[in-house]
Amino acid sequence: MSVQLDSIISLSKRRGFIFQSSEIYGGLGATYDYGPLGVELKRNVKESWWREMVYRHDNIEGVDAAILMHPTVWKASGHVDAFSDPLIDDKQSKNRYRADQLIEGHIDRLKKKGKDDKAEDVHQRLVAALHADEPAKELYQIIMDEEIRSPDSGAFDWTEVRQFNLMFTTHVGPVADQESVVYLRPETAQGIFVNFHNVRETARLQVPFGIAQIGKAFRNEIVARQFIFRMREFEQMEMQYFVKPGDQMEAYEEWREKRLAWHHGIGVRKSKLRWKEHDKLAHYADAAVDVAYEFPIGWQEVEGIHSRTDYDLSRHQEYSGKKMEYFDPQSNERFIPYVVETSIGLDRTVLMLICDAYREEEVNGEKRTVLKFHPGMAPITTAVLPLVKKDGMPEVAHQIEDDLRGRYNTFYDEKGAIGRRYRRMDEAGTPFCITVDGQTLEDDTVTLRERDSMEQVRIDKSRVVEAVTDRISNWEAAE
Ligand code: GAP
Repeated sequence: MSVQLDSIISLSKRRGFIFQSSEIYGGLGATYDYGPLGVELKRNVKESWWREMVYRHDNIEGVDAAILMHPTVWKASGHVDAFSDPLIDDKQSKNRYRADQLIEGHIDRLKKKGKDDKAEDVHQRLVAALHADEPAKELYQIIMDEEIRSPDSGAFDWTEVRQFNLMFTTHVGPVADQESVVYLRPETAQGIFVNFHNVRETARLQVPFGIAQIGKAFRNEIVARQFIFRMREFEQMEMQYFVKPGDQMEAYEEWREKRLAWHHGIGVRKSKLRWKEHDKLAHYADAAVDVAYEFPIGWQEVEGIHSRTDYDLSRHQEYSGKKMEYFDPQSNERFIPYVVETSIGLDRTVLMLICDAYREEEVNGEKRTVLKFHPGMAPITTAVLPLVKKDGMPEVAHQIEDDLRGRYNTFYDEKGAIGRRYRRMDEAGTPFCITVDGQTLEDDTVTLRERDSMEQVRIDKSRVVEAVTDRISNWEAAE
């Protein structure tokens, strides 16, 4: 079954995963709020990433840097001069488009028409244009040569292509002038680079070592119509791994494998993940690859693994005037470390998990919508449901709920028909439901229902926590 993005958006709102930000005022484009289930899912992803990166490695430490940084940081990183999108306006509809995305759309249409050679030609021109000295001019030329029309008006009446910087600005202090401009960070990575010496010295780390961070980033995305895939305010989970120059390829290969294994470990189907090699490397990188997932909008990047050479630390050395070198006590050498970066969007991972878990099935002639999350990711792990709200069943159910709450996020629900309650829990992605019924009062057994198979087994009520724990440890991920 191929999932539609609209089904994901509708379920996310209906069940309280994700809401449009400021909805009662008509919303604010490309910003979203997480509801009760969304916030739990997001926390589980963050915790899994932190455990994997920081706790699993004795040479990786965390930081939590400020969102507002000295403006020169962004000059040094290259974001002030080069962090921009090429935009073009349809003069008739007044709609604005990313020039590169217009061309990509054109390439897709050529492929659909079976014109593969022509599509490859345009693709090569696009890659060259994006890496040209003046990308705007080259992209404009492609649009002209290919006579690409506006997707909304069908017109061929374009402005020139202009570069538009994606960084949000604000001001520090009481006077809003050019001197007081600061940026909302467009990536968390720079907060790691500028703290290179602080973390290394205080945590007494020796190269190779890593610094990890989870935090908000902001980009004034122009074309942002894909739910939480592309947002203006989002979270990143980034790790910079500092190595001796020459050792970067080994580290790069190692991190590629480790990162893909993490994606499998949080339950994403292997068949839905693949590597996407970069057509052409950024000028400072000597290797780069993306982990791509097959979203309803096609194969798209979720995470990037980049070997960034000594570019960032060298630039900070140049702009700050502070040495960014490391003294290697083993070789008695002094060098600026090379960096391998792993950078993943938290919100994009949440979207990937919801899309990957989403199923519509037919059960007894009715549609069942279910989120088949890995139990370690599921927002609610267990639900306790007394069959009826009387005869002592709620009391027994509350006892079981108390036992479970010590260990698992647990939901209690005593209202409505049991079938409907199961369906609600299926939509929330809850892997286990425990039902207290008339027989419980006679022989102390309850039913344990598994979300995916919908199988129900009777177990002693004293064994509920153990039975859930067993099932989680023996969980088999879908392929
Ligand atoms: N420090 C490197 C860096 O920021 P990036 O490819 O621009 O690299 C890394 O971003 C990840 O952040 C992406 O793979 C994606 O998952 C996420 N990301 C980037 N822009 C985003 C946006 N506008 N909305 C949601 N996630 C985004």
